[in-house]
Amino acid sequence: MQILSTIAELRAWRKQAGTVAFVPTMGNLHNGHLSLVQEARKNADAVVVSIFVNRIQFGQGEDFDKYPRTLEQDAEKLQQVGVDILFAPAEEELYPTGKQLYFVEPPMLQNELCGKSRPGHFRGVTTVVSKLFNIVQPNVACFGKKDYQQLAVLTGMVQDLNMNIRIIPVAIERASNGLALSSRNGYLTKEELHQAPQLYQQLLAIAAEIKKGNTDYTTLEQKATTALNQQGWRVDYIEIRQAHSLVKAQPSDKEIVILAAAVLGRTRLIDNLEVDLSH
Ligand code: PAJ
Repeated sequence: MQILSTIAELRAWRKQAGTVAFVPTMGNLHNGHLSLVQEARKNADAVVVSIFVNRIQFGQGEDFDKYPRTLEQDAEKLQQVGVDILFAPAEEELYPTGKQLYFVEPPMLQNELCGKSRPGHFRGVTTVVSKLFNIVQPNVACFGKKDYQQLAVLTGMVQDLNMNIRIIPVAIERASNGLALSSRNGYLTKEELHQAPQLYQQLLAIAAEIKKGNTDYTTLEQKATTALNQQGWRVDYIEIRQAHSLVKAQPSDKEIVILAAAVLGRTRLIDNLEVDLSH
């Protein structure tokens, strides 16, 4: 594995590479990230992973400064799973003037779900991913369903801006207790870590009701919200939506996703669960 930190080096390497699968990350890698790498390996001659903590997708007062930066350990993990290039640019390499002037504006989720409590987050994601796509020029790119809204926004971006890149969605990697793996789980105290699977448990409970034929989505959302709040969480949202489009689910919808964000202690966690009623 080569570790590259400049755009020029990456472009020079790209000229002689065959097909490329790309996995953008912010580092502090866990098995969720590594499952994207495994998927990437099946889909191209070479795999590029980027590690870049992208300031413009963090809001005021969010965890940009304290976001874990563990490049050495990350590089070791990537070496073991068989990555060709680790692209780890400094901030000045991607934002040389310190200011991004052109943005990719997503048409969706700017004011609801995660976009509501994190204004500017998704435009920060689409903008940096566009920049990385222009640098790496991948044939395919892998994104986790853990960030379901991010995946939807990026899938739309690639389609609407005619980017010749196939987006591959990858299933959520969970701990044995159900907790979705996340770099932010590292912020949780021992006690909170023990409590954290409650979020997924509420998603499972809603999914079970929907599978039984319950279409009173508002009541299901409210019940789960109340249950979590009573267990000491601060629920941001729990919403039942149409998969892919992410508009509000209707009782006739067959492909559904339950999306949730909630704060435990000082840590905001997100999770989701797809429900397929088509068979
Ligand atoms: P990051 O949070 O590091 O996640 C990188 C990729 O790993 C994303 O596609 C995310 O969905 C996926 N991922 C994280 N946890 C996962 C899990 N438990 N199971 C499966 N996949 C998981 O998402 C970002 O970084 C950034 O927004 C980025 C796209 C790199 C742009 O800055």
